[in-house]
Amino acid sequence: MPVAPDNRPIILTGDRTTGPLHLGHYAGSLKNRVRLQSTHRQFLLLADTQALTDNAHDPDKIRRNVLEVALDYLAVGIDPALTTICVQSALPALAELTLLYLNFVTVARLERNPTIKDEIQARGFGRDIPAGFLCYPVAQAADITGFKATVVPVGEDQAPLIEQTNEIVRRLNHQIGRDVLLEAKALFAEVGRLPGVDGKAKMSKSQGNAILLSASPNGISNAVRRMYTDPAHLRATDPGKVEGNVVFTYLNAFDEDRFAVAELKAQYRRGGLGDVAVKRRLEDLLQHVLAPIRARREQFGRDPGFVIDLLRRGTRTARERTQATLDELRGALGLSVLPPA
Ligand code: TRP
Repeated sequence: MPVAPDNRPIILTGDRTTGPLHLGHYAGSLKNRVRLQSTHRQFLLLADTQALTDNAHDPDKIRRNVLEVALDYLAVGIDPALTTICVQSALPALAELTLLYLNFVTVARLERNPTIKDEIQARGFGRDIPAGFLCYPVAQAADITGFKATVVPVGEDQAPLIEQTNEIVRRLNHQIGRDVLLEAKALFAEVGRLPGVDGKAKMSKSQGNAILLSASPNGISNAVRRMYTDPAHLRATDPGKVEGNVVFTYLNAFDEDRFAVAELKAQYRRGGLGDVAVKRRLEDLLQHVLAPIRARREQFGRDPGFVIDLLRRGTRTARERTQATLDELRGALGLSVLPPA
């Protein structure tokens, strides 16, 4: 039987393999990816090369976490029959595209990228910025365009990277005189960035304020118990603040009973609702969300051979696709004296 032409829009997104994923990833992007895999041609990139840009001292950590992140994908419901999962370091065409694109970007532009600026500050690089780190937005542009993706589901912190990608696309297309590369659109989740359990702006494993997708029931319990609320809300009868109160932020993100959440907020503001009671509701909810994820993770974790094989096949598919883009671009730029091997 002839296969129907695949004209679904293409998604490429991914994660640095620096550690297992957490609830912030789930609310910010993974949930979207699970939904979109049935309407889009989706590729997920295990970004181990990008992870190296600020972890060159610990390649072992990066390698180990390739499997961990893959397990997280499968655990949340990424279906390998619908989504292609691949490993960045095994896609040489992406490295070559990066090298080409570097000639279409200035160092000043990279230094102005707001994401990079924030990250340089957070990592305390000062002037000693690894060149690979400063240039990773260019590599990310290679990732996105190498797959000819037009949709990129990411957290909002990644917006400047998509913008920079599209600048590179326009520059190259202009140079070539036709649209060989495609511009991409970032797709954000409805809920904004999830704060850490301590109330800090960002949930992150390295800050110790994250709830991992693989958290044990006890781990979830403890995290909710120590969650930041309103420090001035000492007695249940006191009026409390909902804004900046992590428990309510999480309820907003995960509780589908909007009406009940609105009621709880009103009651908390008025006074008469204790932290213990709201936390109990949130804990039940998170246990409920994470139990099936943990179960699937354990199930796949028992068969690493299966997961590795899946990555091998996905990477093979991705290799062909990204190599085709590289060949096309080289031809269009009139770079190659020799035809592609
Ligand atoms: N920068 C992303 C992160 O920090 C990972 C990533 C690498 C990515 N390549 C990508 C995201 C391409 C979207 C598209 O997790």
